Amino acid sequence: MSGLRLTVTDRGEDFDATGAAVIAEAIAGAPGAAIVVATGRTPMGAYARLARDLPARSASGLRVFQLDEYVGVTPDDPRSLAGWTRRSFVDPLGVDPDTVVWLDGLAEDLAAACRAYDDAVAAIGGLDLAVLGLGPNGHLGFNEPPSDPSSGTREVPLSDASIASNAAYRPELPVPRSALTAGLDVLLAARRVVLLVSGAGKAAIVHPALEGPVTPEVPASFLQRHPDVVVVVDRDAWES
Ligand code: F6R
Repeated sequence: MSGLRLTVTDRGEDFDATGAAVIAEAIAGAPGAAIVVATGRTPMGAYARLARDLPARSASGLRVFQLDEYVGVTPDDPRSLAGWTRRSFVDPLGVDPDTVVWLDGLAEDLAAACRAYDDAVAAIGGLDLAVLGLGPNGHLGFNEPPSDPSSGTREVPLSDASIASNAAYRPELPVPRSALTAGLDVLLAARRVVLLVSGAGKAAIVHPALEGPVTPEVPASFLQRHPDVVVVVDRDAWES
């Protein structure tokens, strides 16, 4: 039986509230949980609600892991995904940024930076929770198609689809051509995955990802084999 539980919501507040509730439920009673969190547009409303609704400091002990980062972008660059992670999740939830495991896209030795990240994941006994969005091409993090489930934390050239979708975040600046991503291996090994999907732009990919053939061409399809996935999807994505 599939470990996938699906909730279809209305767009906007209903989606954000449901997303916040499933994240809150996953971290309730696990104050030191190891959690990797996506940036992107989809989870922003849920994160804002979470910060508003969680009792003060109840999330401050979370061990947060960055999901992905552009190569060659400094943390104060407006495109930085570390900066976005910090503004949207780490700071509002009162997590000490010095405890976050960042992906260093400025490292001279990017492979070593990825190994250091994987070592930190291993040292904590794996991730408790992965909060992910769905790329328009089925990517998770920047595990671009094709990615098989053993794909590790690594540098990846970004696909045209990802460059086009990410250009919308900062239209005035070029999208870097490569990124570091947490591997599909560590994401799929997370004890629970929360996948948030919203907007008509995801309608063409959400059904193949959740119900289509399991294939490296749609990296998110490997979630179908995961024992504990909570999917929150709005009607614009599900019914378009
Ligand atoms: C973001 C990330 C990406 C996004 C995905 C969906 O850190 O890793 O996989 O989650 O591209 O992006 P949005 O939410 O902007 O549609």
